[in-house]
Amino acid sequence: MPDHEPQADDNGGVATATDTLTVTDNRTGETYEVPITDGTVRAMDFRQMKASEDDFGLMTYDPAFTNTASCRSAITYIDGEAGVLEHRGIPIEQLCERSSYLEVAYLLVHGELPTQEALDYWIYAITHHTYVHENLKKSMEGFRYDAHPMAMLLSTVGALSSFYPAARRIEDPTERYMAIVRLIAKMPTLAAFSYRHNLGLPYVYPDNDLWYTGNFLSMLYRINEPKYEPDPRLQRALDVLWILHADHEQNCSTSAVRSVGSSQVDPYSAVSAGVAALYGPLHGGANEAVLRMLERIERVENIPDFLQGVKDRKEKLMGFGHRVYQNYDPRARIIKKHVDEVLEVMGIDSPKVEIAVELEKRALDDEYFTDRKLYPNVDFYSGLIYEAMSIPPGMFTVMFAIPRTAGWLAQWKEMLEDEETRIARPRQVYVGPRTVDYVPVGER
Ligand code: ACO
Repeated sequence: MPDHEPQADDNGGVATATDTLTVTDNRTGETYEVPITDGTVRAMDFRQMKASEDDFGLMTYDPAFTNTASCRSAITYIDGEAGVLEHRGIPIEQLCERSSYLEVAYLLVHGELPTQEALDYWIYAITHHTYVHENLKKSMEGFRYDAHPMAMLLSTVGALSSFYPAARRIEDPTERYMAIVRLIAKMPTLAAFSYRHNLGLPYVYPDNDLWYTGNFLSMLYRINEPKYEPDPRLQRALDVLWILHADHEQNCSTSAVRSVGSSQVDPYSAVSAGVAALYGPLHGGANEAVLRMLERIERVENIPDFLQGVKDRKEKLMGFGHRVYQNYDPRARIIKKHVDEVLEVMGIDSPKVEIAVELEKRALDDEYFTDRKLYPNVDFYSGLIYEAMSIPPGMFTVMFAIPRTAGWLAQWKEMLEDEETRIARPRQVYVGPRTVDYVPVGER
């Protein structure tokens, strides 16, 4: 066979005979040839490398998965060095400019843009599944008045599993589709109920005449007017924000959804794992932390001291840095453009915006940050927009979870349809003691 003849590999990629890695195990002097496909080597190919007959074989060690691809995916492409983000190949800038959140959700889940007819049907289906069972509403009423909205969302999304037991039939495409529609439809309802719960206001039922984001604003803000009329500019700003948050490949919460979903649990339970992961301050909680940081800085004059505190490692510059982007997060650039617009609609002059803009400028002029490739991420400006919309900081992560649901579900569906999927089960390097004798409690 000529050296460069392409060969199909086991998992659909194409490797050529020269796309291999030659590894010499210096413990034994043995040499192995490992195929390289799509710029990766298979961790299992290292298992054959053994120091002795009874050796388990070599494993790869990668805590926090910094250099391990856990799946093959055709949903979202990121080039972190260049600051590029594409969904199904379409640049995020074009989607924000020309599409809508529900169309992007369709694109993520189905893999292509819908025809007009398919889009109409999709919007109709989602709009007509926004109501939740009254018992779920009642169970929400049982939360403390000051319960964190993300904690309420996390448990009520999980509770949906008990209302739709048929969703456990994950092998049935109709059940999968219904669960996807229901989750995308009900997420804003549960989120808005949690907001109203904190305020002690009656929950507002969905209004099926309104657009997805307009309906959400209605469920947040409607008091006793017969019909809530959302400001089209706010409705659109929210649409753009939700497009930006719809998916971001294998981040912490998406990995959680895939990992939990790989046990073949129902999608409501898998998505609740995603909500839980997103709750953490290093992930979806960062925009709330950004606002608190801006509040602490208080005035533009305090920025140098704050940045010194970051360099002395007493502080963290929240909303900066990203595992994948070693460049300006393209989402941050788009959000920044909408901050002023939302402030104008709301008639607000926010001193925090001035602090944020100056903080960004100074950090980007400082070698400490540029050397570490620390640039603003999506969360640096999103909290400012939400605050301008009178959404309290506790709700920010919830505002992230709503749109990310489409991404979680697209990834969950892709995982189920992938023939390579098996239950996620990492290995470990055991470093504890062995064969220690049990000592009865009285003798310790
Ligand atoms: N402020 C100050 N220093 C930072 C920051 C920051 N925000 N982020 C990273 N660094 C420094 C680290 O101290 C480290 O410096 P060192 O090499 O001198 O020790 C270097 O930059 C590399 O950072 P890591 O922690 O190794 O980067 P990692 O990829 O593990 O973390 C993360 C990424 C969690 C996002 C981190 O940058 C961070 O905590 N940022 C603030 C929180 C935040 O904004 N999260 C939102 C992320 S976007 C999202 O989830 C939607």
